[in-house]
Order: sequence, then structure tokens, then C-alpha cells
Amino acid sequence: MSGSELAYSDVGSGPAVVLLHGYPFDRSMWREQVDFLTAHRYRIIAPDLRGFGETVAQTSVCEPSAPGHKLKSVPLNEADRTITSMADMARDVATLMDKLEIVDAAICGLSMGGYVAFEFVHLFPTRARALVLAGTRAPADNEQEKQARAQQAEQMLAKGMGDLAGATLPKLLAAGTLTEKPGVVGRVREMILRADPRGAAAAQRGMAARRDYSGDLPGIKVPVLIIVGRQDPIRPVTDAEFMHRGLSDSRLRIIEEAAHMTNMEQPEIFNRALQKFLGTAVV
Ligand code: MLT
Repeated sequence: MSGSELAYSDVGSGPAVVLLHGYPFDRSMWREQVDFLTAHRYRIIAPDLRGFGETVAQTSVCEPSAPGHKLKSVPLNEADRTITSMADMARDVATLMDKLEIVDAAICGLSMGGYVAFEFVHLFPTRARALVLAGTRAPADNEQEKQARAQQAEQMLAKGMGDLAGATLPKLLAAGTLTEKPGVVGRVREMILRADPRGAAAAQRGMAARRDYSGDLPGIKVPVLIIVGRQDPIRPVTDAEFMHRGLSDSRLRIIEEAAHMTNMEQPEIFNRALQKFLGTAVV
């Protein structure tokens, strides 16, 4: 263990649900899910994954970022600063669950959070009661994608997060979200702009190095809910269908009026899908 700490929210009581954010975001992206699920008698654990949000190496202070959200800290494993693997993040989640004395939980990850969920169920198969895989995919990156990640990591370190925010918003959000939901657009932009380029660069390298999870699919024995935005150009419906075909116990929910940030763009639809799934998968 190092002196670093993982910031997180731990709210509500009932069966535990762990929410794992995407890249380059933080746990504030789950605000609507935290409010909804706690009102429906679930205990929500939402960490800022290593290098994101308030989880910064060698930082021990974490301030509340949302009223009513209880924030605590746990030690973070010593990490190579230049690369944060998806397995590192999954182990951090298990360490956090140990600290909170949570034996098992439904693990819900969006995009990068989905890669972490794949690693978590692989490393700790008895600790995942169910999985929610939103806007994510099983295959590893090809060489071109790896190179693009390396390039983006260098650019962020040299110039900060501004260029990334400008370039990715039109892919992260559906056209309807961009024109009709300025509040969501603003929240997503702010999350990107306040991300620490060092943490984001380390996660980019970790994503480039991640395993191909396709071979894991048949071995995942817990129920899985797959969620995808119909308009997501980053992790399109075909990625979701591929996971659906490979898994033995999955259901697929396509959200029409959303792109990559399904949980923020269409929170009511996302929440209802979660509630229905958790009601059967996590009793
Ligand atoms: C994310 O939203 O977490 C990223 O798009 C994941 C990725 O780059 O593969």
C-alpha cells in the first residue's frame, strides 16, 4: 500500500452496486444513478478510479463534491505512474470492497469502467453478483488504436485536456443531447477539462495494453445487462451485440436517443433498465 488514497461515494443501504466511470471522467457522472438507486434501496459505491477525479497519487484529502454523498478514503496500491492497467483498477475496487466489508456486489461499468468490470469478474469471480456493461466492448485494441492512444497521451501531457474536450464531445453525445441538453453537455465538458492529464495518460496506456476479453465471455456465469446508445460511434451497437452473442446469460438494452454517455443522456431510461435488471439479478 502507498500513501495514496481512493476517493469514493458510499451511499444508501441494501444490496451493493459498484459504479465504475468511463475515461476521462469521474464518479460525478453517476449522479442520477446514485440518487435513483439509493431511493430504491441499494447501497451504491462509486469510486474515482486511479488517476481520476479526487483520486490522485499521493493525495490524502478528499472533499465532498455533491451534497449528501458520503466520501471516505482507502489506501491505493503503489502504482507505476506511467501506466494504470485495467487490472490495477479492478484490484483497487476489490480493496475498497474489503475496506467496506462488502463481500460481493453488482458491478456496473461504462466504457473504460466496463474493461475494469471484465478484469474484476476475471480476478474475483465470486465477488461479482451481476455485471452491467454499458458502452464498452470485449476485443482489445488493434495497432492503429494503440498508436492513437499513445499519441493522445502525449498530447494531453503537453497541452492539457482542452483539445480532447473539443474533439470528443460530438462523439460522446448524440446530436439531440448536444442541442437540447446544455446541462449534460456542460457537465461532460467540465469533467474532461478537470481531469488530470497524468492520470488520463496513464489510463490511456493501460487501455492500450488491455487484454482481449472476448475469450472470457463464455466463462462469465453471472447475469449481465448490456446497455448501448444507438448513436454511439465510439462503442457502437455491433460491439454490444458481439458481447450479447458471447455471454450465456445476458440481455441487451439499446437506448435510441443516446450516444456514448447513455447514463447521463437518458438517465430515466438507463435507471429503469438498471432497476429492472437488478430486481431479478440481485435479490
Ligand atoms: C471511455 O469512455 O471510457 C473510453 O471511450 C474508453 C476507450 O477509449 O476505449
